[in-house]
Amino acid sequence: MKKIFFLLAFFLFSISFNTSYAYKVGLLMPTQNETRWYNDGFVLEQKMKNAGFQAELFFAGDADVALQQRQITRVINEGCNALVIGSIDGAALTEVLKEAKQKNIKVISYDRLITGTDAVSYYATFDNAKVGELQGRFLIGRLKPYASDDVKYIELFYGSIDDNNARYFFNGAMKYLQPHLDSGKFVIRSKQIDPKVIQTPAWSTQEAAKRMSSLIEQYNYRPSGERLDAVLAPADCIALGIVSALKREGFTDSNMPVITGQDASPEGLELVKSGALGMTILKNPDDLSSVVVEMVEAIAEGKEPQINDTTTYDNGVYVVPSYLCEPKIVTKKNMKDLIKNL
Ligand code: BGC
Repeated sequence: MKKIFFLLAFFLFSISFNTSYAYKVGLLMPTQNETRWYNDGFVLEQKMKNAGFQAELFFAGDADVALQQRQITRVINEGCNALVIGSIDGAALTEVLKEAKQKNIKVISYDRLITGTDAVSYYATFDNAKVGELQGRFLIGRLKPYASDDVKYIELFYGSIDDNNARYFFNGAMKYLQPHLDSGKFVIRSKQIDPKVIQTPAWSTQEAAKRMSSLIEQYNYRPSGERLDAVLAPADCIALGIVSALKREGFTDSNMPVITGQDASPEGLELVKSGALGMTILKNPDDLSSVVVEMVEAIAEGKEPQINDTTTYDNGVYVVPSYLCEPKIVTKKNMKDLIKNL
């Protein structure tokens, strides 16, 4: 009798032990082809595991929307408690997430806002407007429109139009650039300013290089041709394409227009170091993944996660409670202090 009681107690103990450690979280990253997402995926997976969660990590190939939809459906069908999703097309997950909502699986939007659904519970990201503001302010600091009567020539690049973040980056930068465009101190020779025209589909480096090459052809932006003082690039992946197109036309690290970036990717940091890129932005994956792990911990314990923004991110259905981390500007001057292992 004693033995049976002992076995029963052991059985019950192991069930409760297992369930407390079987909290499953699906981690879905948008692409394996950009270091930003590759790093984030593995940092997040490790932190989840360290916190005792069962985590499964997926990359959606080369930003393949249909593949990401299938991956989400698969994780939901296999059974999970929470999903952390870095979307490709923020508006393309409405259908697949209906199932998550029905099964009471909590969804955290990672870095990029998932729109058009109430299946998203929380949003963990960086202050996206601030990213754009840092880029715009940096260009003002380098072009110094207040210092002389000189006109400065600039061109603008926009991120992928299906990514909600792209709008925040652009509007943040334009807050600083627009007044100088209005006053005529800054001139866009191409006059291209409409997001639909200046967008970079899928944040593709090749697409950015292609558009920059065509601007060079049309407006003769060459060291011996028409002046180009600056290019607003929302992210390193886009800046890389711009720099390579300009280098093909004879620009060097020392006569390169001022170009912005974002992500502090290894490739971006190389360019900041060499002087080809004026700045990039550090979005520390440790910061964002810690926020996400804390969110999942709170959800698992039936508590409300800590959030610091309840007004900014309307996804078309409701304002998603968000936690915004702090992005930091990286220039040649501060990069050694800011980035370890340089
Ligand atoms: C992210 C950026 C990234 C870009 C391209 C955006 O949604 O916030 O950090 O550079 O996507 O991947």
